Amino acid sequence: MTEKELIKSAKAAMKMSYSPYSNCTVGAALLCDNEKVYCGCNIENASFSPTICAERTAFFKAVSEGERKFKMIAVCGECNGEGDRPFYPCGVCRQVMAEFCGPDFIVLVATADDGYEKFTLSDLLPHTFSIEKGSN
Ligand code: THU
Repeated sequence: MTEKELIKSAKAAMKMSYSPYSNCTVGAALLCDNEKVYCGCNIENASFSPTICAERTAFFKAVSEGERKFKMIAVCGECNGEGDRPFYPCGVCRQVMAEFCGPDFIVLVATADDGYEKFTLSDLLPHTFSIEKGSN
């Protein structure tokens, strides 16, 4: 799976977005170490706070299927049908990435010109908060 192919999967996932409140459709595609890809979209709610971002949808789908090791995620989005700006992952999604991924985890963010920007998780979330894990 190449970076460009992962971006393509994220773009396809945008089509599933449920976003009647913001009119922003976001898609994510998460590549696991075992080469499986889990896609996600943003899913909004009339009560707003239950809304979930595309990145977390992809992560939670993957983790709930037993995946624990991840290589890379691609993210893309647009508001009101205009993909004129990159959709950088929000702070909550960065923290969720940090729960399961190390500082070298790759985050690809699609740009308007059909390209993408490439970051590591440590670029996006330096000085990560963490707590020693127990046995559960
Ligand atoms: N959104 C994402 O899906 N990912 C992000 O990283 C930022 C925001 C969604 C949530 C909401 O449905 C819409 O974009 C506007 O905030």
